Amino acid sequence: MAERRKILVTSALPYANGPIHFGHIVGGYLPADIFVRFHRLKGSDVVYICGTDEHGVAITIAARKAGVLPQVLVDKYHRIIKDTFDRMQIRFDNFSRTSRPLNHELSQQFFLNLLEAGHISLKTERQLYDPVERMFLADRYVLGTCPRCGHEEARGDECPKCGAWLDALELVHPRSAVSGAAPEVRESRNWYLKLQDFQPRLEAWIRGKTGWKDNVLRFVEAMFQTGLRERCITRDLDWGVKVPLPDAAGKVLYVWFDAPIGYISSTIEWARARGQPDAWQDYWLNPDCRLVHFLGKDNIPFHCVVFPAMLLGQPEPYILPDNVPANEFYNLQ
Ligand code: MF3
Ligand code: ZN
Repeated sequence: MAERRKILVTSALPYANGPIHFGHIVGGYLPADIFVRFHRLKGSDVVYICGTDEHGVAITIAARKAGVLPQVLVDKYHRIIKDTFDRMQIRFDNFSRTSRPLNHELSQQFFLNLLEAGHISLKTERQLYDPVERMFLADRYVLGTCPRCGHEEARGDECPKCGAWLDALELVHPRSAVSGAAPEVRESRNWYLKLQDFQPRLEAWIRGKTGWKDNVLRFVEAMFQTGLRERCITRDLDWGVKVPLPDAAGKVLYVWFDAPIGYISSTIEWARARGQPDAWQDYWLNPDCRLVHFLGKDNIPFHCVVFPAMLLGQPEPYILPDNVPANEFYNLQ
């Protein structure tokens, strides 16, 4: 008898910076849960993975506002979010946290593998700096006008309106989200992932796909047209996964580096909990397994370009997603 079809389904890991809302459920969780139940009824062997995304500036800003340490904030919202999913009967096989040691170790290993393979470079480049708070303004610490669509509340790393993956220096009229001050430009030393190394393989992979949603394909094609280039994957922050190098004090990995690795560490946790610690490999390293990522549209570049590039740069033969069903935002009112 043929082996049952293996399907690995993920829903985007929500930030543990507040409760989840209606938009989360309709966008990335209810459709995935339905997909999982459907394929189980059809006899496939499905594993459904999720967890909370606990690093990055989304967390540190919320903690600062609440006047608590980031650890206190993520502990609180991990519990609240998990409870909401339980009550909604969204049934994950494992619900992890990116702050767990296993995810830190795996993310550091991914980084070192990419470095060793020559896909990461070290550069000193200009970054935005808040002269009032005396800190580098990573990601959401800086707001400004999106250079692509003109949205005035774009963040240092992404525009929530058009989904563009931005560089903070591209923002028009930048302002510090911490002090409101106009940032200065200062030099900082960081590590960059050479996405261009992977463009031919990523293009070949995506062009071979059928059944992808138009919005996703159009978005990714536009990124290929512009041409992939190197992007900064470390930050001057003290909350996150430490850069695993001796000369990297005060540097952590960009949250979008360790967050999708959370899908893998959550799957490893699932396998260990079942007493079959290697079972995760039957999914992540199995070319016959179908990987499906459910998410909201602002997560497209990370799931269709950045994470696949990170996977291609590993010595192990990780599979790439078979489909990335991304939903547009649900606009209430
Ligand atoms: N936390 C991110 C967001 O809410 C999604 C992370 S998805 C994962 O936009 F790939 F990083 F896991
Ligand atoms: Zn925009």
